[in-house]
Amino acid sequence: MSTRILTGITTSGIPHLGNYAGAIQPAIQMSRQTGNDAFFFMADYHALVKCDDPERVARSRQALAATWLAAGLDTDKATFYRQSDIPEIPELNWILSCVTSKGLMNRAHAYKAAQDQNAAKGIELDDGVTMGLYCYPVLMSADILIFNANKVPVGRDQVQHLEMARDIAQRFNHMYGETFVLPEVQIAENVAILPGLDGRKMSKSYDNTIPLFESSEAELKAAIMRIVTDSRQPGEPKDAESSMIFQIYKGFASDAQTTALKAELERGMGWGDAKNALFTLLNDHLAPMRDRYQDLLSRPDDIEDILLAGAAKARQHTEPLMERVRDAVGLRKAKRVAVSAPAEKKAARKGRFVSFREEEGFRFRLLDAAGTELLVSEVFADPRQAGMAQKALAALNSRNQFEVAGDEALVVVEGAKVASLPAAELDALLETLEGMRAE
Ligand code: TRP
Repeated sequence: MSTRILTGITTSGIPHLGNYAGAIQPAIQMSRQTGNDAFFFMADYHALVKCDDPERVARSRQALAATWLAAGLDTDKATFYRQSDIPEIPELNWILSCVTSKGLMNRAHAYKAAQDQNAAKGIELDDGVTMGLYCYPVLMSADILIFNANKVPVGRDQVQHLEMARDIAQRFNHMYGETFVLPEVQIAENVAILPGLDGRKMSKSYDNTIPLFESSEAELKAAIMRIVTDSRQPGEPKDAESSMIFQIYKGFASDAQTTALKAELERGMGWGDAKNALFTLLNDHLAPMRDRYQDLLSRPDDIEDILLAGAAKARQHTEPLMERVRDAVGLRKAKRVAVSAPAEKKAARKGRFVSFREEEGFRFRLLDAAGTELLVSEVFADPRQAGMAQKALAALNSRNQFEVAGDEALVVVEGAKVASLPAAELDALLETLEGMRAE
């Protein structure tokens, strides 16, 4: 059995070097490993929570698609699609909303952070909080559960969302029967978390990013030249590990290259030279992908074809599962109900005996009209005896015909115990038997 891995990236910006090293590149590597069945998507519905600029969302979708493809994702192997091309996702989102307790969403970090900020400003706690933000974890659960994903590689900030997805899946399974796999979070251990130009985590919100494919060689170089360093001069020994230049270098270099740069810095290599070494390394790595990226972006129809093919592939999974979900909650196709209704109705309106065989002999169950078990008989040596006991049981029509001992009621036929049940259920039993005798 292969492991189904699934992850999504919100389409609210243009991917930078940190996104590539921390998420896209490791995901592509995972998709190449045998035994993995990879699903990667662009979370464009999620983008609407953060971003109300249509142009930006549209551009980000294109940029992200081209980035994954330019970075080498094999769309024959992995399933690559846009969230908004899969109608089963918003459909499941609604159904999951109906099993998710509001209290669970109250505890979501992103929502609490928004409230805390409002509290600090002394304004209404829910100011600026949309239902999209509030229910974000439900949509994310739908993304994951609709594919029955086993593993979800994400950053640490998403761990709580994965816990919520498991909670919601469990709740649904409990209410409606086993339907969803409980997904596991996968925090990449040896993935590079790149520092940004100023030493904080590389992030668009800090404006400290190194561009990936969107910018020219010259712009890449300019960004690298802006990396903050300490004031040590060329010739002075430097501590490699505390330098952002070295940290980023390490994310892309071989072990030998890393060791060599470290030694040179300790021997007094100037920061300018170190930046040049980083530029050369990065540019060699990125240049071929940058060309592919620009080429892809100039062929939007081809991107569209690839994404629509990906969506069709994805829906081979989401359609049948959604069918099961609809069935489970009672949203069945009218046609199917009509076809099976006459036969089903007759059988379902009455209780029935179900005989079965065990190692020690023969038994039967009595089910009520809804199919709930009322009792299981004792063991009979042969099926004829079991049949006679059924017949005797079927004729009972009054409480006096049972031997009640404490809260147990015994069914005794010709001095032999045939079955027992909780005395509290005698009325239900008699009603079922009555129903079975009725024409
Ligand atoms: N919330 C994720 C993020 O901001 C993106 C995302 C949406 C996602 N749906 C997902 C990630 C499903 C993994 C699985 O990074």
